[in-house]
Amino acid sequence: MTHPEFARVSCGALSANDVDRAVELSGWVHRRRDHGGLIFIDLRDRDGITQITFDPADAATFKVAETLRNEFVVRVRGRAQRRPGGTENPKLATGAIEVPVAQLEVLARSETPPFVVSSDDDVDENVRLKYRYLDLRRPRMQTNLTVRHRIIKAMRDYFDAHEFIEVETPILIKSTPEGARDYLVPSRIHPGTFYALPQSPQLLKQILMIGGIGRYMQIARCFRDEDPRADRQPEFTQIDVEMSFVGQDEVIAMMEGCIRDVWFRVLGHTLGEIPQLTFHEAMRRYGSDKPDLRFGLELIDVAELFRGSDFQLFHTLAETEGNRVIALRYPGGASLSRRDFDALTEVAKSHGAKGLAYITLAADGVKGPIVKFLGDSTVAALRAETMSENGDAILFIGERAREASELAGKMRLEIGERLGLRDPAAFAFCWVRGFPLFEKDAESGEITFSHHPFTAPAPGQEALFESDPLGVTAQHYDLVLNGYELGSGSIRNHDPAFQRKVFHRLGMTDEQIDDRFGFFIEALRYGAPPHGGMALGIDRVVMLAVGTTNIRDVIAFPKNQSARDVMMDAPSAVPEASLRDLHLALRVKPPA
Ligand code: AMO
Repeated sequence: MTHPEFARVSCGALSANDVDRAVELSGWVHRRRDHGGLIFIDLRDRDGITQITFDPADAATFKVAETLRNEFVVRVRGRAQRRPGGTENPKLATGAIEVPVAQLEVLARSETPPFVVSSDDDVDENVRLKYRYLDLRRPRMQTNLTVRHRIIKAMRDYFDAHEFIEVETPILIKSTPEGARDYLVPSRIHPGTFYALPQSPQLLKQILMIGGIGRYMQIARCFRDEDPRADRQPEFTQIDVEMSFVGQDEVIAMMEGCIRDVWFRVLGHTLGEIPQLTFHEAMRRYGSDKPDLRFGLELIDVAELFRGSDFQLFHTLAETEGNRVIALRYPGGASLSRRDFDALTEVAKSHGAKGLAYITLAADGVKGPIVKFLGDSTVAALRAETMSENGDAILFIGERAREASELAGKMRLEIGERLGLRDPAAFAFCWVRGFPLFEKDAESGEITFSHHPFTAPAPGQEALFESDPLGVTAQHYDLVLNGYELGSGSIRNHDPAFQRKVFHRLGMTDEQIDDRFGFFIEALRYGAPPHGGMALGIDRVVMLAVGTTNIRDVIAFPKNQSARDVMMDAPSAVPEASLRDLHLALRVKPPA
């Protein structure tokens, strides 16, 4: 209950204009200082911090104030006053005033927190996650969750303004393949059967197009049982979009509009033109299908230059079709020691390289283990091709084309990181288009889909299905930011016979197709409009918007690096009776 004489205000609200105002504040004890006989407390809520003071002249209140510790929850009433000259705090929005407390109520006590809540000092992440409620009180998480809210709100507003409607799709479904394992939920009512949690609402949003919804969006929770990474969670959120009667360019323009709007409205940032690269160009120039365009240092093909050289390894590679010899400029690299290069070689090896060749362009001459094989003219040509200067080093990577590109791409990122070129406050977006529709599964060697099996090939490419499946280009596009894949989408197959043909090409029999996707092929038979769409990973969007590289920092209750919820302790064993209800027997003993 607010006392009628005291206006209830947040801890970030008061300024010099409020002097003499009678106010009521509620919040947490952020910091306490005892000074000159007075007690000073920084009182905190989501909105900010206000300094409150206790004077021993009011002995009863002072006595209670002496018991206050960090993270106690209190309500106070008093009259705001200007801080004495010289004690103002310009860093604080409320730094001109303080509130001498006339009435104090302790609403809750707190045990001593396991880490300091009042600062963002580094704390072991598992401790932060176990006590997430305390971590959420810290400035960083408060900001991140607020930005997350604003981004999602801006996205909803954008799509609403463009006449999309949000439709909720179910969580208990049949498997929709996105290339990961499904999380399964056993059915009690239908013994021996399982629901799958959606890896994405892909099939459902396509069926919404068949259902005449036309423009769909959803803030959609997705579930994928894959190995966790810094930018991946088992459970994550997409802004999922689908549109009827569109081509690739229209979907791209719509999604780009959303990103521009969000960056402007939430971050106050006007984005410039967003470049578009083909998949092959991205691999050739940056060695990645998600290139980090915050810096240049492109991969330069130099096989030609080694063709006539005495460096046998690259000479041979250069002679054989399907290989690449790549040069990478390392600005300032000539000052690295032999030991630094050994360390760099170890990095290359950790990415699968057999070794790392290099030369340094030192002021007193060109050096490095392979210089002796190169003539002056080759060195001059390498210098010119890579636009290197005195003081730089040039690294060389020769391999089968795909491996060479990927390896050089990783070394490019390593150099960018070492040189501080990956500025978290810079935003370098790009679109990557023209992906292959199929790829070879690394383990089985079988043809598999590159993204998901519902993507349409570029017009006229069906002819290559049998003759050159890996050469088929898809109508698929990715949005990339700072080297992260933010989202992907495609134009879909809307012809049931053709969709079946794709499944056949993936090695499925009619029986398998009907068993897994019969309902979908059937739906396509009842007047499916041409359609396409895209999904952005919201967690990644927010992660990059706030300048972190840890996705867990933008999710209120994430799983840790081994996919556990350490606060709730999930996953956990269940009582035998629950298993019986679900008609399940375990093949392993659950952990004690
Ligand atoms: P895709 O599988 O590429 O496409 O996913 C789209 C985006 O979702 C995000 N994402 C993830 N974020 C966090 N943790 C994960 N484990 C994770 N997996 C994916 C990424 C990714 O770019 N149905 C298609 C979209 C479409 O075709 O419309 C799909 O889900 O940012």
